[in-house]
Amino acid sequence: MSWTTPDGSAPLRPTHVLAHLSDSHLTSAGVRYNQVLDADAALDRAVAVLRSAVADGRPLDAVILSGDLTDTGDPDAYRRLRAAVEPLGVPVLYATGNHDVRTEFHRSLLGRGDEGPVLQSVQVGGLRMLALDSTIPGAGHGRLTAEHLAELTAALADPAPEGTIVVLHHAPLPPPSPLLSYFALEAASRIALRDAIAGTDVRLVLAGHHHLAQSGTLGAIPVAVAGSTAIRTDPLAPNGHERTWASGSFNLVQVYPDTITVSVIPVDGAAPVFDLDAAGCQAVIDAHPTRP
Ligand SMILES: [Fe+2]
Ligand SMILES: [Fe+2]
Repeated sequence: MSWTTPDGSAPLRPTHVLAHLSDSHLTSAGVRYNQVLDADAALDRAVAVLRSAVADGRPLDAVILSGDLTDTGDPDAYRRLRAAVEPLGVPVLYATGNHDVRTEFHRSLLGRGDEGPVLQSVQVGGLRMLALDSTIPGAGHGRLTAEHLAELTAALADPAPEGTIVVLHHAPLPPPSPLLSYFALEAASRIALRDAIAGTDVRLVLAGHHHLAQSGTLGAIPVAVAGSTAIRTDPLAPNGHERTWASGSFNLVQVYPDTITVSVIPVDGAAPVFDLDAAGCQAVIDAHPTRP
């Protein structure tokens, strides 16, 4: 982009571009997710979009995966996940979800043997990402223990130059469907997280679990939930119904000095409508003078 906008300012450019994927639910070999879907193929559709973007010269600084990375914690599914995302060649931050098996997640993706939750920190340039573990082994709903939140508070006592993004699986937002309302983050944990990040350098909370792209707030901090790469929860299903569609997406997180945008990128097979190259864009700009 060599042009300026009609008011004479330069186009805004992000300092960091992050891909936020969630709920890939990779199954054991030969098992279809929910008896229907090939979850590996669904993840590959999302990764292919990123691979193509990187090949076209688009910036990508990190990939964030916010839990339910596998459906049952199969070590081979974790191996396939790494083989899918790590060739993108950027840092990958893995968070665990209720469908993951914590100890296998630690062993396969973090190379650690911890039994308890692990607070992970990845910094890209001046931007820090902190991943929490909101799971309760053996349960579907979410909790942040006092000890784990104390680790977060200790980390946040030392601010990062360009701020912090907090990642967890169980979204700290009202769930969109009956079963997800049961499998929610515990209310006390949601409030404790709100209080832990208030007044810190946290700029955004990223989460998954709802299988639906959503946005909201936790106190004064924005929250963005990525949909599943495999399925989409229907928040307008008949009352009392839990209904999903074979429709994957991920979120593109673009960080600017004074704001962050989150864009939903569906990967469910939409057909192209138009594709202007740089010369085509310039022709449109030339047809729209700055001072009509
Ligand atoms: Fe999930
Ligand atoms: Fe989940």
